[in-house]
Amino acid sequence: MGREGKDNVQLRNRAAALTLAVCAAALSVLGVQAPPSSESRSVWDGVYTEEQAKRGEPLYRKECASCHGDVLSGGESAPALTGGAFLSNWNGLTLGDLFDRIRKTMPLSAPGRLTRQQDADILAFMLSVNKFPAGKTELYRQSEMLKEIRFEAAKPAPRK
Ligand code: HEC
Repeated sequence: MGREGKDNVQLRNRAAALTLAVCAAALSVLGVQAPPSSESRSVWDGVYTEEQAKRGEPLYRKECASCHGDVLSGGESAPALTGGAFLSNWNGLTLGDLFDRIRKTMPLSAPGRLTRQQDADILAFMLSVNKFPAGKTELYRQSEMLKEIRFEAAKPAPRK
């Protein structure tokens, strides 16, 4: 290889190193901006607020309780929205899946009648009844974002 060829290789290596450094810097900036451990959030991480659950309660009573029961324990034909069977149905899925299920099929007689905000508030109320902890930020109204929150029936062991 001639002298020129070697220089080119060195130049290219340096360019590659620079690109890597820039990417790493960009990633670390993104990492700082993303909510803490965003990729590993679950329903145990305080993903709704108490306020929101309180807003959801009357909506649930009005729109859902006639079939699913006052305390979410189910009715003659509608399944419970709390307890073992419900939790294991959704275990391993995401809040986005549950949100979509509500948006697309509930209330049974008029699916899609409620707004995203109302559905999110009802979902927050359902989470509170299921004893998932409240936190400082309200539940998202977008299924894409709710899809990043895992539905886990059992409380995970505390991180070390
Ligand atoms: C007219 C009765 C009726 C009303 C009102 C109703 N549901 Fe349902 N719901 C059902 C029935 C029946 C099923 C099971 C069969 C089906 O999915 O179609 C069901 C299923 C569900 C499921 C799935 C449960 C599981 O574990 O798979 C969810 C979640 C749900 N409903 C939420 C709601 C919410 C939230 C509301 C109020 C906005 C609501 N439902 C209103 C009758 C009703």
